[in-house]
Amino acid sequence: MGFSDDFVWGAATSAYQIEGAAKEDEKGAHIWDVYAKEPGHIYGGHHGETACDHYHRFRGDVGIMKEIGLRAYRFSVDWSRVLPEGTGRVNEKGIAFYDALIDELLEAGIEPYMTLFHWELPYELYKRGGWMNPRIAEWFGEYAKLAAQRFSDRVSHFFTLNEPQCFVGLGFLTGEHAPGLKMPLRDTFEMAHNALRAHGRAVQMLRQYAKQPLTIGYAPTCGMCYPETEKPEDIKAARQTLFSMNPEDRNWTWNVAWWSDPVLLGHYPKEGLKRYEPYLPRITDADMKLIAEPIDVYGQNIYNGRCIRMGADGRPEEARRGEGFPKTASSWPVTPEALYWGPKFLYERYQKPMYITENGLSCHDVISLDGRVHDPNRIDFLARYLGQLKRAAGEIDIRGYFQWSLMDNFEWAKGYSERFGLVYVDYPTQKRILKDSAYWYRGVIQNNGAGL
Ligand code: NOJ
Repeated sequence: MGFSDDFVWGAATSAYQIEGAAKEDEKGAHIWDVYAKEPGHIYGGHHGETACDHYHRFRGDVGIMKEIGLRAYRFSVDWSRVLPEGTGRVNEKGIAFYDALIDELLEAGIEPYMTLFHWELPYELYKRGGWMNPRIAEWFGEYAKLAAQRFSDRVSHFFTLNEPQCFVGLGFLTGEHAPGLKMPLRDTFEMAHNALRAHGRAVQMLRQYAKQPLTIGYAPTCGMCYPETEKPEDIKAARQTLFSMNPEDRNWTWNVAWWSDPVLLGHYPKEGLKRYEPYLPRITDADMKLIAEPIDVYGQNIYNGRCIRMGADGRPEEARRGEGFPKTASSWPVTPEALYWGPKFLYERYQKPMYITENGLSCHDVISLDGRVHDPNRIDFLARYLGQLKRAAGEIDIRGYFQWSLMDNFEWAKGYSERFGLVYVDYPTQKRILKDSAYWYRGVIQNNGAGL
């Protein structure tokens, strides 16, 4: 029992977080290009104009992936690099970059997993209303069509949206991310609905223009929940909390059911429909049909979870974490159980083969006197989480795991202050150093997780 022989061991990145070359080769601007350049938005005034310079160094980076032994690499396409205005004119130079990356990966024996949207909304579309404009479903569909036409001869795994909870919630509700807005709830529900419609339209277009049968998925995030004990009532409490709406309105996007039930079950959760009734856009049957366009796999990003038990009053409650509870450099709790219970609960509800599309942590990594980067905390974290995933893989259909991230990169509002990579990036020189965890992960891949 444990991981299947063809289990996909990978690592993930996203375009703006690593590519750089923000103004090169006729790339169009997106909301992060604009937002990050304005003082006061990002830690230390950082921005992604150069990032890891992956745009120029991708061959070396693929070499590193090969050294680690990755079977697969999940990366995203910058919409505005291939369609500078988001729609219409195709930028052949942008296409050429992704063509070369894909070819390099295939040559190295690494399977490309392409994410279409990892938060870079083209600025020209933002000016036209972005997610507020219902036409975005068609714009995103056009982009998906282009991806299918140009890349699907060699790429057979696609994910549509990455973490819609974040690009709607952090971008337009709390305003911590680009474009930094605090919109009324009504607007954010409109955007969320259009984002889900865009997802559905992209699935249709990918299938229609595919050059080979594709595996298409979706990659939301979650506030995972796990039970304090394995008593049935605690498991029930954790499951119930996981699929409930967030108690705080200004944080409503942080939930699973609103984003995944429509895609996989064809309807919004009743609880949310009732509670948010005054804020909802018009939702038609045709919309729901589009949103529920069948997908093949369910990707889920999982970083941590809340420990839940059934309270004496018969209602779920969160167990308080003890003093000194382990946490990562970003102060996220270390909760390996999330990687067992998370996939279990999601599989139970949605019945789709799963991928963990992201999991990892940031550490205070430094280059030691011996010139190496020792990151025992990352190894310990991954060993604990992967051990739990292994247990889940023995019980449900889990196809693969993508560690976040292949290399240190631009962590959005936190700039370069958070290091999530298996590979250390020395930004002033762009030198890459494989951390101890990269060598450790290589071993895990080689023996298919046997030692976990
Ligand atoms: C989620 C996002 O998809 C990714 O862009 C981010 O860097 C990681 N989690 C870590 O916060």
